[in-house]
Amino acid sequence: MNIHVFASGDQLDEACADLIGGIIRIKPRAVLGLATGGTPLGVYRRLIGDYRKGLVSFRHATSFNLDEYVGLPESRPESYHAYMRKNLFDHIDLPLSRAHLPNGNAADLEAECRRYDALVEEAGGIDLQLLGIGHNGHIGFNEPDRELAAGTHLVHLADTTRRANARFFNSIDEVPKQAITMGVGTILKAKMIVLIAKGADKADIVRRALEGPITTECPASLLQTHPRLIVLLDRDAAARLSPPSLKAMKGVDFQTDGYYTDLKVFSTNKLT
Ligand code: F6R
Repeated sequence: MNIHVFASGDQLDEACADLIGGIIRIKPRAVLGLATGGTPLGVYRRLIGDYRKGLVSFRHATSFNLDEYVGLPESRPESYHAYMRKNLFDHIDLPLSRAHLPNGNAADLEAECRRYDALVEEAGGIDLQLLGIGHNGHIGFNEPDRELAAGTHLVHLADTTRRANARFFNSIDEVPKQAITMGVGTILKAKMIVLIAKGADKADIVRRALEGPITTECPASLLQTHPRLIVLLDRDAAARLSPPSLKAMKGVDFQTDGYYTDLKVFSTNKLT
């Protein structure tokens, strides 16, 4: 696990966009796992900026989003299809035919889940999976539970998640109760995972996820088992981590004010 703490959210965005751009430069046909929500917005703005400056091209890349609501038309601005078009896809050269999201309006939702897993497999798996974290420790829409599904599946959204996401809708009543999400098995199969979190309201769950016991009751804690996890945090989200325990962990590179510029993680761990 590599944890990097940034003095500002902007610096985090820049570093995260550098990581994603770095992967694409090393492997133009990279398969990206993408997230929605508030946290990645600055990263996507940076990627658009880098694309406009000619620093990165997504022409040969493929992407898979983590999740989509069930029963919300793709044309609705709150859908994750619309979010991705507005905040990334409409502004870069990633062909829409290779920018995948689960179809939350499929007639047969179970078949849609199997189709999505098969597509990820066909693409060769995910090279870099970008993740945010929910206040209850969810990743994608894998909500805390006694057991978790490995593959893409249908979920009932937790009340806390619906309340948190109500900010993107006119009212909580409009927030769908179900979603399709990639499972933790697929997420953990990604060759590299980049978890990002910002803000004091994430400090507790970040500590539980990274320092707490590994349990399906905090799905993000399963990320501790991943061999190549990079965690990018702003100072507020990192506030409750304990530096001594971080330093004791093998491979942890803890910076307090640092700006992560070197991409040594790529030179030492070539993606194949
Ligand atoms: C969305 C997703 C969710 C969010 C999480 C945090 O695709 O995967 O797990 O990452 O709900 O959302 P924000 O970033 O809005 O705090």
